[in-house]
Amino acid sequence: MKILVIGGGGREHTLVWKIAQSPLVEQIYCAPGNPGIAELAECVHIGADEIDALLDFALAEKIDLTVVGPEVPLTMGIVDIFQTAGLEIFGPNKAAAQIEGSKRFSKDLMARYNIPTAAYRSFSDHAQAVAYIREQGAPIVVKADGLAAGKGVIVAMTEEQAIAAVDEIMLDQVFGDAGASVVIEEFMDGEEASFFAFTDGKNILPLASSQDHKRVNDNDEGPNTGGMGAYSPAPVVTDELYQVIVDTVVKPTIKGMAEDGCPYSGILYVGLMIKDGKPRVVEYNARFGDPEAQPLLMRMRSDIVPVLQACARGELQQNSIEWYDKAAVCVVLASGGYPAAYEKNLPISGLDEAAEIEDLMVFHAGTALKDGLIVNQGGRVLGVTGLGDTVRDAIDKAYAGVKVIHWDKVHYRHDIGARALNR
Ligand code: AMP
Ligand code: GLY
Repeated sequence: MKILVIGGGGREHTLVWKIAQSPLVEQIYCAPGNPGIAELAECVHIGADEIDALLDFALAEKIDLTVVGPEVPLTMGIVDIFQTAGLEIFGPNKAAAQIEGSKRFSKDLMARYNIPTAAYRSFSDHAQAVAYIREQGAPIVVKADGLAAGKGVIVAMTEEQAIAAVDEIMLDQVFGDAGASVVIEEFMDGEEASFFAFTDGKNILPLASSQDHKRVNDNDEGPNTGGMGAYSPAPVVTDELYQVIVDTVVKPTIKGMAEDGCPYSGILYVGLMIKDGKPRVVEYNARFGDPEAQPLLMRMRSDIVPVLQACARGELQQNSIEWYDKAAVCVVLASGGYPAAYEKNLPISGLDEAAEIEDLMVFHAGTALKDGLIVNQGGRVLGVTGLGDTVRDAIDKAYAGVKVIHWDKVHYRHDIGARALNR
């Protein structure tokens, strides 16, 4: 088989790494890829949102299966366009990708099918949104309806903060069209966890539990990021809770989407808030998590390719995934300054040394090759992922890798996985 993976971050490096282990695969392409991916796949200079160019490439190369990493091409309708051209592709179509692309769509879905989540109202009128905040009081959460590169959610501790957020989203339009309407919802407290399930639109195949660390600094301080680290399994998700999540969240979501004439296939990512052993949905994403994919796929024993193919074909029959009975921990190495501005093109040392360490993978995210050197290019640069018999062992393994890698102003958290140890 020839497989095309779309994207060029840590999640896509991990997908390529896992796909490359399949005996079914002869050739992997990745668009646009990155220097880490280039060791396993042929990188193609096409951006993840250049749908026409991607289609031309896939047709010309007779790609058997395309796997979409990021949300943007999904919400642009890449799946519909590839399918119309007769190509097999893994991911939800444009209508189904609204589950991530529109907060209003996903909140209305949850309300219709009694899926546990925060109480909410949506508004297209600024004055009504402000009046609702005054009525509800703080803390309260303001969300731009559309995609805002992870920045469209404001957890406001005061009414003034919430109103300022509505002003920025609706009046100043800082997120453009994504802010034409807002969702205002109840603040939920608790512990967050990520839950993933493969689905063909009817059947589901849930993955092992995982958790990420969203804040940039130790002890969950500082601004939110795309994720500074992740681990699997997540002890907060007990066996009992796992089943509750499958029965009260994942199944009704997939069934509800199908009943609404909008079947969802691909991987469903559910962000959850856990309180007193009960899950509530924070948000859905239409893709794999980054960096949750790194520890999850390092733990996955089953071949991923037949699963991806079955989801794309609507023929998912497999009902379990085999996992290594091990824990995995991913520590993200970021550019100093991220998620705000940071210096780029700083040479990274120690990658060869890290590659020698057993049960350790260094997945590339924001790296580039410059004058023969690997340099930092994005905010999140590397995902150093260790496998171990216990979470403690996996943490030690990941940080043993972190210790040998360096560049000027590298930033990482020292407490990835600590929450799991505290249980
Ligand atoms: P999102 O962009 O939807 O992933 O939201 C970003 C982060 O905001 C989430 O990971 C949560 O930490 C937080 N968040 C979103 N909605 C709520 C809520 N209703 N209550 C508390 N925190 C929330
Ligand atoms: N880990 C957060 C995300 O993938 O959105």
